[in-house]
Amino acid sequence: MLLDRLGRPLRDLRISVTDRCNLRCTYCMPAEVFGPGYAFLPRTELLSFEEIERLCGVFVASGVRKLRITGGEPLLRRDLPDLVGRLTRLSGVEDVALTTNGLLLPRLAAELKAAGLRRVTVSIDSLDPEVFGRMNGQGVHPRRVLDGIEAALSAGLGVKVNTVVQRGVNDEGLRNLWLALREGAVVRFIEFMDVGNHNGWNLDSVVPSREVLARLSADGTGAEFRPVDPNYRGEVAERHVSEDGYEVGLISSVTAPFCGDCSRARLSAVGVLYTCLFAVAGTDLRAPLRAGAGDEELRDLIAGVWRERRDRYSEERGEATAAGEKGQGRKIEMSHIGG
Ligand code: GTP
Ligand code: 5AD
Ligand code: SF4
Ligand code: SF4
Repeated sequence: MLLDRLGRPLRDLRISVTDRCNLRCTYCMPAEVFGPGYAFLPRTELLSFEEIERLCGVFVASGVRKLRITGGEPLLRRDLPDLVGRLTRLSGVEDVALTTNGLLLPRLAAELKAAGLRRVTVSIDSLDPEVFGRMNGQGVHPRRVLDGIEAALSAGLGVKVNTVVQRGVNDEGLRNLWLALREGAVVRFIEFMDVGNHNGWNLDSVVPSREVLARLSADGTGAEFRPVDPNYRGEVAERHVSEDGYEVGLISSVTAPFCGDCSRARLSAVGVLYTCLFAVAGTDLRAPLRAGAGDEELRDLIAGVWRERRDRYSEERGEATAAGEKGQGRKIEMSHIGG
């Protein structure tokens, strides 16, 4: 089996299909930076669906079992259901998932389901129109995301919800959001992370997961929740169940980093392979692909990168913050590798 320097296998591949998005979340693509003049990638730079399919085949031959399609906003990529069909049909793939802001689901959910998709993960940070409108940078109403979630459920797709928590921004509305969505979806709360270079992260704006849990319970203690076993090894969200049987997931990237089990590789929209969400540099797979490299050559290239991998950024940042140091310099943007 292909293992990295820390003994971790390559099991998951997250594929970004576009760097564009129809929202401007302040923590991801702040409007001041990603404004009208921002140069997004031209289409010719993007991997084609044929190229993505081919690379995924090579990744599966290297051990990958789970694929996740991300962006930017992946549903902005034209004909995305076509790609979903290609990936769900790849033999050896056990799970294909899609991370989306949900805005285009009313239009696309049924088609995605027909293409073989079984589940989606939808991001929504607040049900308060004012708070959500501010966080998404575009004044978009939460109703539009809820419509997307409903469309996904009606199409028969499983739904998970991702909520990024920022202190003083959306931490008041967490219980409301959970109560409103827990019936049809598994809601997960994510500690705000220092991804990219523009989101003004600092430790004070992180609400630790244990505080999130306290805020979710009626009595404000979190005592009504009990932890339950992960669905699979290396699951990022820690699952908890309330007394009345509702699940909630906590993603504690800051207070309890999970690098030790991290089996995730990331492929950017232009075909660069990154071995960490916080990578400073990656390995170009598009050039050899377009120069006619065979599957074996590509497999060797990927294996060489993975064998050398020693990333554990979240753990290191935790250690550095504890020691009063600043984090590393320029990182890859979240909208380039999709979280
Ligand atoms: P499931 O397959 O449904 O269990 O989803 P998942 O939790 O693997 O995927 P998802 O993309 O929904 O991850 C949720 C969030 O956790 C992401 O948006 C990131 O914010 C964070 N996250 C996921 N993977 C990593 C990672 O490798 N490192 C760090 N630091 N955060 C991650
Ligand atoms: N910290 C935590 N989660 C983030 N996401 C985007 N930026 C951050 C950040 N700085 C989440 C989005 C989405 C997923 C792709 O990543 O909300 O759910
Ligand atoms: Fe778009 Fe998702 Fe980034 Fe928000 S977090 S700007 S929805 S890619
Ligand atoms: Fe994996 Fe890097 Fe995230 Fe750690 S910080 S869990 S190594 S992607």
